[in-house]
Amino acid sequence: HRKSFARRWERDDVIATLRKRDTFSHKGSHGKGVVIGGQQMMPGSVTLTASAALRAGAGLLTVATVKDNISIIAHKCTEAMYHVLEEQDGTIKENDVTPFRTFDGAAIGMGMGRDPVTAKFTQRLIHDLDIPVIVDADGLHHLKPILNKVGKRNYPLIITPHYGEMAMLTEYTIDRIKLSPMAIAKEFARKYQLYVVLKGKFTIITSPDGKQTVSDTGNAGLAKGGTGDVLSGVILAMVMQHSSHLEALCNACYIHGASADMRVKTGRNTEIDMLASDVIDGLSHVFHTLF
Ligand code: APR
Ligand code: MG
Repeated sequence: HRKSFARRWERDDVIATLRKRDTFSHKGSHGKGVVIGGQQMMPGSVTLTASAALRAGAGLLTVATVKDNISIIAHKCTEAMYHVLEEQDGTIKENDVTPFRTFDGAAIGMGMGRDPVTAKFTQRLIHDLDIPVIVDADGLHHLKPILNKVGKRNYPLIITPHYGEMAMLTEYTIDRIKLSPMAIAKEFARKYQLYVVLKGKFTIITSPDGKQTVSDTGNAGLAKGGTGDVLSGVILAMVMQHSSHLEALCNACYIHGASADMRVKTGRNTEIDMLASDVIDGLSHVFHTLF
């Protein structure tokens, strides 16, 4: 692999590209999103994604999950709506993707589980939905067998792997990816014609045409379960509110990390005690500093 170079996404870039809310806007102007995932015993993941999407400005947000999770999620995220997924003993066994066609964007895979039946459903969603789709976490495992088919989608497919998930998708070792993450992300994005958000201390964002930026906000407080779910929610909201997908992804990563940085800088958290939900709470302060 040749060495690659990319531009660092900075605060001024966010200020220049972040969409402000129009005075006469209504909830439909800001996107109707759906978060699909959360098998039984994993309600937290989709709760974080849904709350983050709403905090990041999504107009309407539906959570599609198994029945028993709904009251748990509703307790934490009052503003969401729900769609019940078919299940067997808590495992997602849904077949029908048609209800999801009417949304403006979908985030799929958080806490979804890796059952083969769930894989079929996920693959159908990725294949059939003509909307921007973000695939994260367990969804990435379901995506792998159909990677060769996703280039034909008319709407963007966005994947958000950490290094371990990137290793699973590419079959490179994590150590190999660490040697040239930019080149490997670019090769992958071009080959399968999708957007890659390769998450880490530095997050590398690559578009299907190979354009790359790096977002370096955030701190070790984010090294805790759930922060990736929060990022997926911020991405969902941003993608529904930007015309450029690359700018949406860059802004989402910048804002997610900036929230963690602000939590520490203002003494609300340390890197030790920060929780994913604190990152959601911090979004409001970040938006304040950007406008
Ligand atoms: N500095 C800056 N940012 C960081 C750091 C760090 N040291 N560590 C993590 N981050 C950021 C990443 O850039 C990313 O945005 O925090 C987020 C972590 O996302 P994930 O790795 O997806 O974490 P999450 O999914 O919440 O939790 C780990 O992933 O593989 C699964 O099953 C595994 O439950 C586990 C889960
Ligand atoms: Mg994750």
